[in-house]
Amino acid sequence: MTLQVTDVFASYGPFKVLKSVSIEVKPEQCISVIGQNGAGKSTLLRAILGLLGLESGQVTFEGKDITNLSPWERAKIGLILVPEGRHIFGPLTVYENLSIGCVKYQRKKRLKKRLDFVYELFPFLQQRENQTSATLSGGEQQMLAIARALMAQPKLMLLDEPSLGLSPVMIEALSKTLEEVKRTSSLLLVEQNVRLALNLAEKMYMLHGGQVVFQGTDKEFESEPKFLELYFG
Ligand SMILES: Nc1ncnc2c1ncn2[C@@H]1O[C@H](COP(=O)(O)OP(=O)(O)OP(=O)(O)O)[C@@H](O)[C@H]1O
Ligand SMILES: [Mg+2]
Repeated sequence: MTLQVTDVFASYGPFKVLKSVSIEVKPEQCISVIGQNGAGKSTLLRAILGLLGLESGQVTFEGKDITNLSPWERAKIGLILVPEGRHIFGPLTVYENLSIGCVKYQRKKRLKKRLDFVYELFPFLQQRENQTSATLSGGEQQMLAIARALMAQPKLMLLDEPSLGLSPVMIEALSKTLEEVKRTSSLLLVEQNVRLALNLAEKMYMLHGGQVVFQGTDKEFESEPKFLELYFG
């Protein structure tokens, strides 16, 4: 198993958010977590990445208990986030943003190798290498955020609503990109765009009020009107 989250409870002060959440990601698998605003999706990612302490429960990665590791230690072993809202460094160039993503490789040779890999997947980023990142379009910035995460050679890439604010054409491009990324990394995709999630993920989890109310395949999800109703209101 790549990632196993078991019976996790997490709160912001007195405000309880995650209530007995268990999910798992198998090697080379893409799972998707969907749910309405405030369901606890980003909180779940924070808990997995060690950005929010657990009240109880356990997180294991490749069979190792990582519940008490720091976010940095988790990044080093391959858990890499593509955050909601991209959070690229606007004043820096495309090249500089990508270099920052290369958490493990201070050595120039390794950096070059990762850059070659990323530029092959995103040729436009090589053409824009010296462009200030803030001047890229929203969709291009999203691709840069994914490329920056790939620089760290993730074993599990966690994406928080990557389709937010993108046009249908850009969402299509994003979907193709993530299909490519799936060849090299497991994916945990948080999405509001259920269509994108259904297309990419082999397994879906639905969070509602901080609890997993559904888990199953895309087909099982689509054949359950009750969940569609819960999701779409
Ligand atoms: N730092 C915080 N302090 C207190 N409450 C918080 C904090 N961050 C999130 N919350 C609350 O926790 C709940 C879950 O938030 P979370 O961000 O995980 O939702 P989400 O499913 O990611 O929603 P969205 O789709 O809008 O991004 C919400 O009710 C939110 O108000
Ligand atoms: Mg969120």
